[in-house]
Amino acid sequence: MKDYLIYFAQAYPNFRTAELESLANLHNFSLDLSGHDEKNPFLIVQLEDDEQAQKILERSILARGIYELWGHGTNYEELHQDVQKRSCDKFDTYKHDTFKFNFESFMGSKSNKARIEIIESFGYLEFEGAINLKKPQQIYTVLEEYKVNGMEKANVPLNIWFGRQIQLSARMNNILDKYDLKRRNYIGTTSFDAELSLVTCNIAQVRSGKITYDPFTGTGSFLVTAANFGALPMGSDIDVRMLKGKSAKCNIRETFKQYGTLGQYIDVLTMDFTNNAFRSNFVIDNIVCDPPYGVREGLRVCGAKNPEKAAGRENHEIDGQKAHLRRDFIPPKKPYELSNLLDDLLSFAASRLPVDGRLAFWMPTANDDFQVNQIPQHENLELLYNLEQEFNKWSRRLLVYIKRDESYKGETRNGLKEENIKNFRERYFRGFSEKSR
Ligand SMILES: C[S@@+](CC[C@H](N)C(=O)[O-])C[C@H]1O[C@@H](n2cnc3c(N)ncnc32)[C@H](O)[C@@H]1O
Repeated sequence: MKDYLIYFAQAYPNFRTAELESLANLHNFSLDLSGHDEKNPFLIVQLEDDEQAQKILERSILARGIYELWGHGTNYEELHQDVQKRSCDKFDTYKHDTFKFNFESFMGSKSNKARIEIIESFGYLEFEGAINLKKPQQIYTVLEEYKVNGMEKANVPLNIWFGRQIQLSARMNNILDKYDLKRRNYIGTTSFDAELSLVTCNIAQVRSGKITYDPFTGTGSFLVTAANFGALPMGSDIDVRMLKGKSAKCNIRETFKQYGTLGQYIDVLTMDFTNNAFRSNFVIDNIVCDPPYGVREGLRVCGAKNPEKAAGRENHEIDGQKAHLRRDFIPPKKPYELSNLLDDLLSFAASRLPVDGRLAFWMPTANDDFQVNQIPQHENLELLYNLEQEFNKWSRRLLVYIKRDESYKGETRNGLKEENIKNFRERYFRGFSEKSR
Protein backbone atom coordinates (compact mmCIF):
# COMPACT_ATOMS: atom_id res chain seq x y z
CA MET A 1 0.00 0.00 0.00
CA LYS A 2 1.16 3.55 -0.73
CA ASP A 3 0.33 6.91 0.82
CA TYR A 4 -1.83 9.30 -1.18
CA LEU A 5 -2.95 12.77 -0.21
CA ILE A 6 -6.53 13.86 -0.92
CA TYR A 7 -7.26 17.57 -1.04
CA PHE A 8 -10.97 18.27 -0.46
CA ALA A 9 -13.10 21.23 -1.50
CA GLN A 10 -14.65 23.32 1.25
CA ALA A 11 -18.18 22.11 0.52
CA TYR A 12 -20.40 19.70 2.48
CA PRO A 13 -17.53 18.22 4.54
CA ASN A 14 -19.91 15.79 6.27
CA PHE A 15 -20.72 14.20 2.87
CA ARG A 16 -17.09 13.60 1.89
CA THR A 17 -16.49 10.15 3.33
CA ALA A 18 -19.83 8.80 2.07
CA GLU A 19 -18.95 9.95 -1.44
CA LEU A 20 -15.45 8.49 -1.55
CA GLU A 21 -16.38 5.25 0.23
CA SER A 22 -19.20 4.76 -2.27
CA LEU A 23 -16.91 5.39 -5.24
CA ALA A 24 -14.28 2.98 -3.89
CA ASN A 25 -16.97 0.36 -3.27
CA LEU A 26 -18.26 0.88 -6.80
CA HIS A 27 -14.81 -0.20 -8.00
CA ASN A 28 -14.74 -3.15 -5.59
CA PHE A 29 -12.16 -2.00 -3.09
CA SER A 30 -12.47 -0.58 0.39
CA LEU A 31 -11.05 2.68 1.56
CA ASP A 32 -10.20 3.54 5.15
CA LEU A 33 -11.26 7.13 5.71
CA SER A 34 -11.32 6.88 9.50
CA GLY A 35 -8.65 9.60 9.73
CA HIS A 36 -10.94 12.17 8.10
CA ASP A 37 -11.62 15.34 10.05
CA GLU A 38 -14.36 17.59 8.66
CA LYS A 39 -12.38 20.69 9.61
CA ASN A 40 -9.34 19.59 7.64
CA PRO A 41 -9.37 19.55 3.82
CA PHE A 42 -6.24 17.34 3.64
CA LEU A 43 -6.35 13.61 4.25
CA ILE A 44 -3.74 10.89 3.79
CA VAL A 45 -5.11 7.53 2.67
CA GLN A 46 -3.49 4.22 1.78
CA LEU A 47 -4.18 2.74 -1.64
CA GLU A 48 -2.79 -0.11 -3.70
CA ASP A 49 -1.82 1.96 -6.70
CA ASP A 50 -2.44 5.02 -8.87
CA GLU A 51 -5.32 3.28 -10.60
CA GLN A 52 -7.31 3.09 -7.36
CA ALA A 53 -6.53 6.75 -6.69
CA GLN A 54 -7.71 7.71 -10.14
CA LYS A 55 -10.91 5.68 -9.75
CA ILE A 56 -12.06 7.30 -6.53
CA LEU A 57 -11.31 10.83 -7.66
CA GLU A 58 -12.26 11.13 -11.28
CA ARG A 59 -15.99 11.53 -10.66
CA SER A 60 -15.77 13.01 -7.17
CA ILE A 61 -17.55 16.28 -6.53
CA LEU A 62 -16.37 16.98 -2.99
CA ALA A 63 -12.66 16.33 -3.47
CA ARG A 64 -10.36 18.45 -5.58
CA GLY A 65 -7.42 16.19 -6.29
CA ILE A 66 -5.36 13.21 -5.22
CA TYR A 67 -1.55 13.06 -5.13
CA GLU A 68 1.00 10.32 -4.64
CA LEU A 69 2.58 11.58 -1.44
CA TRP A 70 6.30 12.26 -1.70
CA GLY A 71 6.79 14.14 1.54
CA HIS A 72 5.42 16.33 4.31
CA GLY A 73 6.83 18.98 6.62
CA THR A 74 5.78 21.82 8.84
CA ASN A 75 8.36 23.99 7.02
CA TYR A 76 10.28 23.67 3.75
CA GLU A 77 13.41 22.31 5.39
CA GLU A 78 11.44 19.46 6.94
CA LEU A 79 9.58 18.87 3.69
CA HIS A 80 12.80 18.52 1.66
CA GLN A 81 14.29 16.13 4.22
CA ASP A 82 11.16 13.99 4.15
CA VAL A 83 10.98 13.93 0.33
CA GLN A 84 14.62 12.83 0.10
CA LYS A 85 14.17 10.22 2.80
CA ARG A 86 10.90 8.61 1.80
CA SER A 87 10.77 9.13 -1.97
CA CYS A 88 14.32 9.04 -3.36
CA ASP A 89 13.49 5.71 -5.07
CA LYS A 90 10.89 7.54 -7.18
CA PHE A 91 13.17 10.24 -8.61
CA ASP A 92 14.66 7.96 -11.25
CA THR A 93 11.29 6.58 -12.35
CA TYR A 94 10.17 9.96 -13.64
CA LYS A 95 13.61 11.40 -14.47
CA HIS A 96 13.02 11.77 -18.19
CA ASP A 97 9.29 12.64 -18.16
CA THR A 98 8.15 16.10 -19.14
CA PHE A 99 6.82 17.93 -16.10
CA LYS A 100 5.60 21.07 -14.43
CA PHE A 101 5.04 22.30 -10.88
CA ASN A 102 1.72 23.44 -9.43
CA PHE A 103 0.76 25.07 -6.15
CA GLU A 104 -2.38 24.55 -4.08
CA SER A 105 -2.77 26.74 -1.05
CA PHE A 106 -5.46 26.54 1.59
CA MET A 107 -6.19 29.81 3.40
CA GLY A 108 -3.13 31.59 2.10
CA SER A 109 -0.95 32.10 -0.94
CA LYS A 110 2.54 32.85 -2.17
CA SER A 111 3.81 35.39 -4.66
CA ASN A 112 5.04 34.13 -8.04
CA LYS A 113 8.58 35.05 -7.06
CA ALA A 114 8.34 32.98 -3.87
CA ARG A 115 6.91 30.08 -5.88
CA ILE A 116 9.81 30.12 -8.31
CA GLU A 117 12.24 30.03 -5.40
CA ILE A 118 10.39 27.03 -3.97
CA ILE A 119 10.47 25.21 -7.32
CA GLU A 120 14.21 25.82 -7.51
CA SER A 121 14.66 24.40 -4.01
CA PHE A 122 13.58 21.01 -5.42
CA GLY A 123 16.69 20.92 -7.63
CA TYR A 124 17.87 17.69 -5.90
CA LEU A 125 15.14 15.79 -7.80
CA GLU A 126 17.45 16.15 -10.82
CA PHE A 127 14.70 15.75 -13.37
CA GLU A 128 16.05 15.81 -16.91
CA GLY A 129 12.74 15.89 -18.81
CA ALA A 130 11.62 19.13 -20.44
CA ILE A 131 9.29 21.52 -18.67
CA ASN A 132 5.93 21.43 -20.40
CA LEU A 133 3.25 23.75 -19.06
CA LYS A 134 0.45 22.58 -21.37
CA LYS A 135 0.57 18.80 -21.41
CA PRO A 136 3.26 17.49 -19.10
CA GLN A 137 3.59 13.79 -18.34
CA GLN A 138 3.92 14.56 -14.64
CA ILE A 139 2.57 17.39 -12.51
CA TYR A 140 4.28 17.89 -9.15
CA THR A 141 2.23 19.80 -6.63
CA VAL A 142 3.16 21.71 -3.54
CA LEU A 143 0.17 21.86 -1.21
CA GLU A 144 0.29 24.39 1.60
CA GLU A 145 -2.05 24.75 4.52
CA TYR A 146 -2.09 28.11 6.27
CA LYS A 147 -3.80 28.92 9.52
CA VAL A 148 -5.90 32.04 9.79
CA ASN A 149 -5.60 34.05 12.99
CA GLY A 150 -8.89 35.90 13.31
CA MET A 151 -9.11 38.12 10.25
CA GLU A 152 -5.40 38.02 9.61
CA LYS A 153 -3.96 35.69 7.01
CA ALA A 154 -0.77 33.99 8.09
CA ASN A 155 2.12 34.16 5.63
CA VAL A 156 3.88 31.05 6.86
CA PRO A 157 2.24 27.70 6.15
CA LEU A 158 1.43 25.32 8.95
CA ASN A 159 1.77 22.19 6.83
CA ILE A 160 3.31 21.54 3.44
CA TRP A 161 2.94 18.42 1.32
CA PHE A 162 4.66 17.52 -1.93
CA GLY A 163 3.16 15.01 -4.32
CA ARG A 164 2.77 13.77 -7.85
CA GLN A 165 -0.68 14.58 -9.16
CA ILE A 166 -2.64 11.45 -9.98
CA GLN A 167 -6.12 12.75 -10.68
CA LEU A 168 -8.10 15.95 -10.44
CA SER A 169 -11.78 15.52 -9.63
CA ALA A 170 -14.83 16.17 -11.81
CA ARG A 171 -15.28 19.34 -9.74
CA MET A 172 -11.93 20.66 -11.00
CA ASN A 173 -13.00 19.86 -14.54
CA ASN A 174 -15.89 22.34 -14.28
CA ILE A 175 -18.75 19.94 -13.77
CA LEU A 176 -20.51 22.35 -11.41
CA ASP A 177 -20.52 25.09 -14.03
CA LYS A 178 -21.75 22.70 -16.65
CA TYR A 179 -24.76 21.56 -14.61
CA ASP A 180 -25.43 24.89 -12.90
CA LEU A 181 -29.21 25.45 -12.84
CA LYS A 182 -28.68 28.99 -14.13
CA ARG A 183 -27.40 27.54 -17.39
CA ARG A 184 -29.96 24.77 -17.69
CA ASN A 185 -32.55 24.81 -20.43
CA TYR A 186 -35.50 23.77 -18.26
CA ILE A 187 -35.84 24.45 -14.55
CA GLY A 188 -38.71 25.11 -12.12
CA THR A 189 -39.24 25.93 -8.47
CA THR A 190 -38.59 22.29 -7.54
CA SER A 191 -35.29 21.87 -9.42
CA PHE A 192 -32.60 20.36 -7.22
CA ASP A 193 -29.19 22.03 -7.10
CA ALA A 194 -26.54 20.57 -9.35
CA GLU A 195 -23.79 19.97 -6.80
CA LEU A 196 -25.92 17.89 -4.44
CA SER A 197 -27.66 16.08 -7.31
CA LEU A 198 -24.23 14.96 -8.51
CA VAL A 199 -23.14 13.98 -5.00
CA THR A 200 -26.41 12.04 -4.56
CA CYS A 201 -25.72 10.12 -7.77
CA ASN A 202 -22.18 9.30 -6.59
CA ILE A 203 -23.35 8.01 -3.21
CA ALA A 204 -26.18 6.07 -4.90
CA GLN A 205 -23.52 4.51 -7.16
CA VAL A 206 -25.30 5.56 -10.34
CA ARG A 207 -23.22 4.12 -13.15
CA SER A 208 -22.70 3.42 -16.78
CA GLY A 209 -25.27 1.28 -18.58
CA LYS A 210 -27.48 0.87 -15.48
CA ILE A 211 -31.04 2.07 -15.07
CA THR A 212 -31.56 4.94 -12.65
CA TYR A 213 -35.14 5.77 -11.72
CA ASP A 214 -36.51 8.98 -10.21
CA PRO A 215 -40.17 8.39 -9.21
CA PHE A 216 -40.72 12.12 -8.50
CA THR A 217 -38.98 13.52 -11.55
CA GLY A 218 -40.29 17.12 -11.58
CA THR A 219 -37.93 19.02 -13.89
CA GLY A 220 -35.54 16.07 -14.09
CA SER A 221 -32.57 17.26 -12.01
CA PHE A 222 -31.53 13.78 -10.88
CA LEU A 223 -32.07 12.20 -14.29
CA VAL A 224 -29.81 14.74 -15.93
CA THR A 225 -26.97 14.28 -13.43
CA ALA A 226 -27.38 10.49 -13.50
CA ALA A 227 -26.81 10.59 -17.27
CA ASN A 228 -23.56 12.46 -16.67
CA PHE A 229 -22.26 9.28 -15.00
CA GLY A 230 -23.35 7.13 -17.92
CA ALA A 231 -26.65 5.85 -16.48
CA LEU A 232 -29.81 5.21 -18.44
CA PRO A 233 -32.24 7.54 -16.67
CA MET A 234 -35.97 7.03 -16.44
CA GLY A 235 -38.52 8.99 -14.47
CA SER A 236 -42.15 9.45 -13.56
CA ASP A 237 -44.25 12.15 -11.96
CA ILE A 238 -47.93 12.53 -11.24
CA ASP A 239 -47.92 16.02 -12.77
CA VAL A 240 -47.86 15.86 -16.56
CA ARG A 241 -47.16 19.59 -16.75
CA MET A 242 -43.78 19.13 -15.04
CA LEU A 243 -42.81 16.39 -17.47
CA LYS A 244 -44.02 18.27 -20.56
CA GLY A 245 -42.07 21.37 -19.58
CA LYS A 246 -42.74 24.91 -20.65
CA SER A 247 -42.56 24.58 -24.44
CA ALA A 248 -41.22 22.41 -27.26
CA LYS A 249 -37.76 23.89 -26.63
CA CYS A 250 -37.90 23.98 -22.86
CA ASN A 251 -38.44 20.55 -21.36
CA ILE A 252 -36.59 17.54 -19.96
CA ARG A 253 -35.79 16.06 -23.36
CA GLU A 254 -34.25 19.35 -24.50
CA THR A 255 -32.13 19.42 -21.34
CA PHE A 256 -30.69 16.02 -22.28
CA LYS A 257 -29.96 17.42 -25.73
CA GLN A 258 -28.24 20.38 -24.11
CA TYR A 259 -25.88 18.02 -22.28
CA GLY A 260 -25.36 15.64 -25.18
CA THR A 261 -26.83 12.69 -23.25
CA LEU A 262 -30.10 12.24 -25.14
CA GLY A 263 -28.88 8.84 -26.38
CA GLN A 264 -28.98 7.50 -22.81
CA TYR A 265 -32.34 9.00 -21.86
CA ILE A 266 -35.01 6.29 -21.58
CA ASP A 267 -38.06 8.49 -21.01
CA VAL A 268 -40.44 9.90 -18.44
CA LEU A 269 -44.06 8.97 -17.88
CA THR A 270 -46.97 10.46 -16.04
CA MET A 271 -47.69 8.08 -13.21
CA ASP A 272 -48.81 8.15 -9.63
CA PHE A 273 -45.98 6.39 -7.81
CA THR A 274 -48.42 4.67 -5.47
CA ASN A 275 -50.15 3.07 -8.49
CA ASN A 276 -46.95 1.96 -10.12
CA ALA A 277 -47.35 0.56 -13.60
CA PHE A 278 -43.91 -1.01 -14.15
CA ARG A 279 -44.03 -4.75 -14.67
CA SER A 280 -42.82 -6.55 -11.58
CA ASN A 281 -39.69 -8.07 -13.20
CA PHE A 282 -38.50 -4.78 -14.63
CA VAL A 283 -35.06 -4.28 -13.07
CA ILE A 284 -34.14 -0.87 -11.73
CA ASP A 285 -30.52 -0.52 -10.62
CA ASN A 286 -30.74 2.54 -8.44
CA ILE A 287 -33.34 5.05 -7.27
CA VAL A 288 -32.55 8.69 -6.57
CA CYS A 289 -35.19 11.25 -5.70
CA ASP A 290 -36.54 14.20 -3.80
CA PRO A 291 -40.08 13.18 -2.73
CA PRO A 292 -42.85 15.78 -2.37
CA TYR A 293 -43.07 17.32 1.09
CA GLY A 294 -45.81 19.81 0.39
CA VAL A 295 -43.49 22.81 0.72
CA ARG A 296 -42.92 23.63 -2.95
CA GLU A 297 -45.30 21.06 -4.43
CA GLY A 298 -48.33 19.01 -3.42
CA LEU A 299 -48.36 15.35 -2.47
CA ARG A 300 -51.32 13.76 -4.17
CA VAL A 301 -52.21 10.31 -5.39
CA CYS A 302 -54.88 9.08 -7.77
CA GLY A 303 -58.21 8.45 -6.12
CA ALA A 304 -61.36 10.21 -5.03
CA LYS A 305 -61.58 12.16 -1.78
CA ASN A 306 -65.14 10.91 -1.45
CA PRO A 307 -65.27 7.33 -2.84
CA GLU A 308 -69.07 7.06 -2.44
CA LYS A 309 -69.71 10.14 -4.52
CA ALA A 310 -67.18 8.96 -7.12
CA ALA A 311 -68.82 5.51 -7.35
CA GLY A 312 -72.06 7.23 -8.37
CA ARG A 313 -70.21 8.78 -11.33
CA GLU A 314 -68.84 5.50 -12.66
CA ASN A 315 -71.54 5.22 -15.32
CA HIS A 316 -71.33 8.84 -16.40
CA GLU A 317 -71.06 9.01 -20.20
CA ILE A 318 -69.86 11.63 -22.67
CA ASP A 319 -70.80 11.18 -26.33
CA GLY A 320 -71.93 7.62 -25.57
CA GLN A 321 -68.57 6.64 -24.03
CA LYS A 322 -67.87 6.03 -20.35
CA ALA A 323 -66.21 9.26 -19.18
CA HIS A 324 -63.40 7.51 -17.25
CA LEU A 325 -62.43 5.43 -20.31
CA ARG A 326 -61.94 8.46 -22.58
CA ARG A 327 -58.38 9.55 -23.44
CA ASP A 328 -59.04 13.05 -22.14
CA PHE A 329 -60.18 11.82 -18.73
CA ILE A 330 -58.24 13.42 -15.88
CA PRO A 331 -58.34 11.09 -12.88
CA PRO A 332 -59.29 12.71 -9.58
CA LYS A 333 -56.55 13.15 -6.99
CA LYS A 334 -56.66 12.94 -3.24
CA PRO A 335 -54.20 13.88 -0.51
CA TYR A 336 -51.95 11.14 0.89
CA GLU A 337 -49.78 10.81 3.92
CA LEU A 338 -46.07 11.31 3.35
CA SER A 339 -45.21 8.61 5.89
CA ASN A 340 -47.15 6.17 3.70
CA LEU A 341 -45.47 7.45 0.54
CA LEU A 342 -42.02 6.91 2.08
CA ASP A 343 -43.07 3.42 3.15
CA ASP A 344 -44.22 2.79 -0.43
CA LEU A 345 -40.86 4.06 -1.68
CA LEU A 346 -38.88 1.75 0.62
CA SER A 347 -41.10 -1.26 -0.24
CA PHE A 348 -40.73 -0.54 -3.95
CA ALA A 349 -36.94 -0.26 -3.59
CA ALA A 350 -36.80 -3.48 -1.55
CA SER A 351 -38.72 -5.41 -4.18
CA ARG A 352 -37.18 -3.91 -7.35
CA LEU A 353 -33.53 -3.21 -6.59
CA PRO A 354 -30.96 -5.94 -7.15
CA VAL A 355 -28.93 -7.03 -4.10
CA ASP A 356 -26.45 -4.18 -3.39
CA GLY A 357 -28.60 -1.71 -5.36
CA ARG A 358 -29.02 1.67 -3.67
CA LEU A 359 -31.95 3.97 -2.87
CA ALA A 360 -31.06 7.59 -2.10
CA PHE A 361 -33.61 10.27 -1.25
CA TRP A 362 -33.85 13.59 0.55
CA MET A 363 -36.02 14.19 3.60
CA PRO A 364 -36.50 17.54 5.37
CA THR A 365 -36.70 17.76 9.17
CA ALA A 366 -37.08 20.57 11.71
CA ASN A 367 -33.85 20.81 13.70
CA ASP A 368 -35.47 21.12 17.13
CA ASP A 369 -37.94 18.28 16.46
CA PHE A 370 -35.72 15.68 14.83
CA GLN A 371 -35.43 12.23 16.31
CA VAL A 372 -33.66 9.37 14.66
CA ASN A 373 -36.87 7.31 14.72
CA GLN A 374 -38.26 9.67 12.06
CA ILE A 375 -36.08 7.87 9.55
CA PRO A 376 -38.10 5.15 7.81
CA GLN A 377 -36.63 1.63 7.72
CA HIS A 378 -37.41 -1.52 5.79
CA GLU A 379 -36.26 -4.98 6.84
CA ASN A 380 -34.54 -5.71 3.51
CA LEU A 381 -32.80 -2.36 3.24
CA GLU A 382 -29.85 -1.30 5.32
CA LEU A 383 -29.54 2.40 6.05
CA LEU A 384 -25.99 3.24 4.97
CA TYR A 385 -25.95 7.02 5.38
CA ASN A 386 -27.99 9.75 7.03
CA LEU A 387 -26.28 12.93 5.87
CA GLU A 388 -27.53 16.26 7.06
CA GLN A 389 -27.49 19.53 5.16
CA GLU A 390 -28.29 22.06 7.83
CA PHE A 391 -30.06 25.34 7.18
CA ASN A 392 -30.83 27.84 9.87
CA LYS A 393 -33.78 26.12 11.55
CA TRP A 394 -34.38 23.08 9.45
CA SER A 395 -32.34 20.49 7.65
CA ARG A 396 -32.69 18.15 4.81
CA ARG A 397 -31.16 14.72 5.03
CA LEU A 398 -29.85 12.50 2.33
CA LEU A 399 -30.88 8.97 3.33
CA VAL A 400 -29.09 6.20 1.48
CA TYR A 401 -30.11 2.56 1.74
CA ILE A 402 -28.66 -0.60 0.27
CA LYS A 403 -30.71 -3.64 -0.68
CA ARG A 404 -29.47 -6.72 1.20
CA ASP A 405 -30.02 -10.36 0.37
CA GLU A 406 -32.68 -12.56 1.95
CA SER A 407 -30.54 -13.47 4.94
CA TYR A 408 -30.64 -9.84 6.12
CA LYS A 409 -33.41 -8.87 8.52
CA GLY A 410 -33.04 -5.25 9.49
CA GLU A 411 -35.36 -3.12 11.51
CA THR A 412 -38.71 -1.90 10.22
CA ARG A 413 -39.99 1.54 11.06
CA ASN A 414 -42.68 3.74 9.63
CA GLY A 415 -40.59 6.85 10.29
CA LEU A 416 -42.17 10.26 9.91
CA LYS A 417 -45.63 10.43 11.38
CA GLU A 418 -48.21 12.59 9.66
CA GLU A 419 -48.16 14.91 12.64
CA ASN A 420 -44.40 15.60 12.09
CA ILE A 421 -45.02 16.37 8.46
CA LYS A 422 -47.92 18.76 9.11
CA ASN A 423 -45.83 20.40 11.77
CA PHE A 424 -42.87 20.66 9.43
CA ARG A 425 -44.96 22.28 6.69
CA GLU A 426 -46.71 24.71 9.05
CA ARG A 427 -43.52 25.58 10.85
CA TYR A 428 -41.61 26.03 7.58
CA PHE A 429 -44.10 28.66 6.45
CA ARG A 430 -44.05 30.33 9.87
CA GLY A 431 -40.25 30.46 9.81
CA PHE A 432 -39.95 27.91 12.66
CA SER A 433 -40.79 30.71 15.07
CA GLU A 434 -42.48 28.43 17.59
CA LYS A 435 -42.24 24.81 18.58
CA SER A 436 -44.70 22.32 17.11
CA ARG A 437 -48.06 21.94 18.77
C1 LIG B 1 -39.79 17.86 -4.66
S1 LIG B 1 -40.46 17.61 -6.22
C2 LIG B 1 -39.14 16.84 -7.06
C3 LIG B 1 -38.42 17.84 -7.88
C4 LIG B 1 -37.41 17.27 -8.81
N1 LIG B 1 -36.29 16.67 -8.08
C5 LIG B 1 -36.88 18.36 -9.75
O1 LIG B 1 -35.69 18.36 -10.03
O2 LIG B 1 -37.66 19.21 -10.19
C6 LIG B 1 -41.62 16.33 -6.00
C7 LIG B 1 -42.36 15.91 -7.24
O3 LIG B 1 -43.22 14.83 -6.85
C8 LIG B 1 -44.37 14.91 -7.66
N2 LIG B 1 -45.44 14.10 -7.02
C9 LIG B 1 -46.29 14.44 -6.05
N3 LIG B 1 -47.08 13.39 -5.73
C10 LIG B 1 -46.70 12.35 -6.54
C11 LIG B 1 -47.13 11.00 -6.70
N4 LIG B 1 -48.12 10.50 -5.97
N5 LIG B 1 -46.52 10.23 -7.64
C12 LIG B 1 -45.52 10.73 -8.41
N6 LIG B 1 -45.08 12.01 -8.31
C13 LIG B 1 -45.65 12.80 -7.37
C14 LIG B 1 -44.67 16.40 -7.78
O4 LIG B 1 -45.45 16.66 -8.93
C15 LIG B 1 -43.24 16.98 -7.85
O5 LIG B 1 -42.87 17.17 -9.20
